[in-house]
Amino acid sequence: MAKNIHSPLVVGNWKMNPSTLADARKLFLDTRKEIGRKKLNTQVIVAPPFPFMSELQKLSPSQRIMIASQNVHFKKNGAHTGEVSLPMLQSVGVSAVIVGHSERRMSGESDEEVSKKIETVLKTKTTIIVCIGETKRDNHGNYFGVIEKQLHSALSVVPKPKLSQVVIAYEPVWAIGTGATATPEDVHEMKLFIQKIIALKYGKTYMNKVRILYGGSVKKENAQQLLDISEVNGFLVGGASLKSKEFAKIINIADAYAKRTL
Ligand code: PGA
Repeated sequence: MAKNIHSPLVVGNWKMNPSTLADARKLFLDTRKEIGRKKLNTQVIVAPPFPFMSELQKLSPSQRIMIASQNVHFKKNGAHTGEVSLPMLQSVGVSAVIVGHSERRMSGESDEEVSKKIETVLKTKTTIIVCIGETKRDNHGNYFGVIEKQLHSALSVVPKPKLSQVVIAYEPVWAIGTGATATPEDVHEMKLFIQKIIALKYGKTYMNKVRILYGGSVKKENAQQLLDISEVNGFLVGGASLKSKEFAKIINIADAYAKRTL
């Protein structure tokens, strides 16, 4: 998927929204219209609920907006009621998969399951967006240990040649949907920490092969700072991706940043 690993990636996670296919079509078409026709240096992905994917995929034949899944099962098929497999997603044109979102981890998804999912997805060319994040911050820096554990587990199934297929989304859980954002300086520190773990495991040259996104109350008002100071490679946007104008604004900010820095 990545034309240039350093070009920003902006992912809209619609979660369990909107309620109907008609509303999903409208949100998708409005988003497409707001983004406009200009050449983008930014990759744009939206992750709608499963029932809407196939239909929305047809609304962007040029893949200007790509479709991601919010989850996947690690098995190809079988007796797994309520689950959706990667071949199913690929057959409706999904080009990326999010795994380990904190809302799924909260309902019981373990590090082990997340790594099984990563392993499955890496057998294909589908991009995998792995979410990691601490539930709370403390004054002793214990939250770094949480990130280290989640990241080690995720990377344990990623061989060197597959590293660039992986995107890490750092999403402090306390900042998701709350309006509270980590400071750009804190996010920058965490980005460096994540890169250090990658460098120690794979070697220094590999540290820039993985895109690191930030997620957690990203809005048009904080996107610029998060790029300038945190130097993240893009965003995983929840609430703001349900407003086409706001989402397009965040994409424009990322795109202008890319034009200045790439
Ligand atoms: P938020 O969600 O932007 O609404 O905080 C982010 C996410 O959960 O990915």
